Amino acid sequence: MSDEMVEAAWAALARQGARLKAARIDSLFAADARRFARFSREGAGLLLDISKNRIDEEALAALLALAKGAMLEEARGRMFSGERINVTEHRAVLHVALRAGNDAGLVVDGHDVLPDVRAVKARVEAFAEQVRSGAWRGFTGKPIRHVVNIGIGGSDLGPRMAAAALSPHLADDLALHYVANVDGADLAGVLDRVAAEETLFIVASKTFTTQETMANAASARAWLRDQGAEEADVAKHFVAVSTNAQAVAAFGISAENMFPFWDWVGGRFSLWSAIGLSLAIGLGSEGFEALLSGAREMDGHFLEAPLAENLPVLLALTEIWNRNIEGHRARAVVPYDERLALLPAYLQQLEMESNGKRLGLDGEEALHATAPVVWGGAGTNGQHAYFQHLHQGTDVVPVDFIAAIAPDHGLAGHHRLLMANLFAQGEALMRGRASPDGNPHRAFPGNRPSTAILMDRLTPERLGALLALYEHKVFCLGVLWGVPSFDQWGVELGKELAGSLLKGTGVPSGLLGWYNSRARQEDKL
Ligand code: F6P
Repeated sequence: MSDEMVEAAWAALARQGARLKAARIDSLFAADARRFARFSREGAGLLLDISKNRIDEEALAALLALAKGAMLEEARGRMFSGERINVTEHRAVLHVALRAGNDAGLVVDGHDVLPDVRAVKARVEAFAEQVRSGAWRGFTGKPIRHVVNIGIGGSDLGPRMAAAALSPHLADDLALHYVANVDGADLAGVLDRVAAEETLFIVASKTFTTQETMANAASARAWLRDQGAEEADVAKHFVAVSTNAQAVAAFGISAENMFPFWDWVGGRFSLWSAIGLSLAIGLGSEGFEALLSGAREMDGHFLEAPLAENLPVLLALTEIWNRNIEGHRARAVVPYDERLALLPAYLQQLEMESNGKRLGLDGEEALHATAPVVWGGAGTNGQHAYFQHLHQGTDVVPVDFIAAIAPDHGLAGHHRLLMANLFAQGEALMRGRASPDGNPHRAFPGNRPSTAILMDRLTPERLGALLALYEHKVFCLGVLWGVPSFDQWGVELGKELAGSLLKGTGVPSGLLGWYNSRARQEDKL
């Protein structure tokens, strides 16, 4: 389809927006007893409910027409077949290969990548079992009790979030720690709590050049030596996950202690690769495989379900509606599950680093607004903090509510309370309320959109499906907005300037001069 036809589909969508401008979501519900059934779908063990967004059948048809017109299905095929769809970096985008079934094959540039994927996964899982069983020993002969993942961004957020989400499934006698920040308080806080002889450090970095990770890894190694380990003992306490074998070797980690991955795995899509090593140690190979299988189920659903039944497509189209037609600049992610408290941070990177772009694939200004600000936190806590803004603020912020039907704890009554709050908030946002006593400050405007994603339990399989759902949503939005979702040049400038300032070659701004003089005074104290 031509660009003109895609723009015609956008124009048709804008007309739907104008038609529904005065509509209320609660009235759409009142007018249609089957609204929930019409606007909810199940796939890969998840329920997606978009019925509390201000759309109707005609608007959804226009959204689906945009997806068709933008050749979303063809683009999806290109990703799954290993084409170099990351055009700005000339790379394939193949995180789906990391969770492909054992009988699958995927040839990229004449090479089947799946045997490599399987071989590394087998090494990851075998190593995880060695650590879990106590066969892998520290320098005094004791088994490992603490695993410290040193990494940042995609080399941190995925495994950190998933470890918290799946905490009931982790080994009891192993503690997982995550250090990301170059602020020494982060690493120091962990080192204070672990014994060197029982600690394994995983240096996780796709590039193995990231300043924060390299600084933390060097300090951790120096600390290990200070705690009595010899240079030869370092191999018992340090392993690496990276695509950069040379830099790993230069750091002093040998090839047998390095778990590779490939340039076609983006950092924010890398949880499924060896970057998930800490998680594999916590979960064991069975649990890690279950996570992959849940993602694989969602991959299958995304590939095969018709657009109108397809969860990632519908989630993406809902965002198109809220962002581009209704003009909402932010979206809140509110899991009603304490274990998913880190999901908003994970999705921030996934969505904002992928689609926070102002130029289209052709290098020209993007024609439509792209990724909204993604933020949020666990419910019910948010109700006592930022929900005031969601209900009565001047900006409308669509919300994603996420929850499991059944908990994994035995505390009676809590889950009913939790879920009652989730349902109440979606209703309150949608319905609003007139002031009960004429005081205008007590009125709720309502008509505020929300989306719900529910699953039976928060298992490794369901978490895998949930994360794959959002990954594919991000892909769909990249296609619909026409932006390069798989690069992240926007992080470069700040990194370069920090480098120059460290070398003393940066141009000091007023603030730096003030800081330097104060820091000199502090040094004298
Ligand atoms: O600075 C952004 C970024 O490049 C992310 O895209 C990436 O996930 C993170 O840094 C960490 O990179 P690496 O794994 O190479 O250390």
